[in-house]
Amino acid sequence: MYKLHDLPYLYQDLEPFISTYTIALHINKHTKNYLNNLNKLLLKNNYQFNYSLNELLFHITEFPNDQEDILFNLGGVLNHNLYFHSLSKKLVGPEGLFKIHFNKKYQSISNFLKILKEKALRLKGSGYIFLVLKQNKELDLINLPNQETPLLNKDIPLFCIDLWEHAYYLDYQNDKARYIDNLENIVDFSLASKIFNNYYPKL
Ligand SMILES: [Fe+2]
Repeated sequence: MYKLHDLPYLYQDLEPFISTYTIALHINKHTKNYLNNLNKLLLKNNYQFNYSLNELLFHITEFPNDQEDILFNLGGVLNHNLYFHSLSKKLVGPEGLFKIHFNKKYQSISNFLKILKEKALRLKGSGYIFLVLKQNKELDLINLPNQETPLLNKDIPLFCIDLWEHAYYLDYQNDKARYIDNLENIVDFSLASKIFNNYYPKL
């Protein structure tokens, strides 16, 4: 059975920008629901858990009866794993080769977050904004609805922000802009750096 990645910080570590209660609910209710639904659907299909979560995405046609539901819940697990690793108790900037490309494209973290905010506020309904590495080796910010993952478009997700209401509503009500503004205190690009620095030379 699949498991969630361990959270690299405590529930209370994102206070006062994201409350302990929001993080606890987000992990123990929302994210675990995706994981439990995914495991249940796969067990029902006699799956042997022989692929990684990413690999499963590219073998989805092996499950003709529940393909849509598996894809939705798999996206929910993958996207939340990335989201929780895109945050930390303090701001951590890009490193190595990623830092060079990030600065070339966005100049600074505050400018990146300004662009992210403008774009994220244009997303209709629920979804995420992702920073992706495209096959043409460019960085890009893209909105995707619901639990879609950039991997299906062959974009490599490096970093994401959850824009579903459950990510911010208890702390900010309908003020999504303020939730995004406060991210400048808690974004963490260490996983993004690791993924970029691994994949970029291979593209
Ligand atoms: Fe979420």
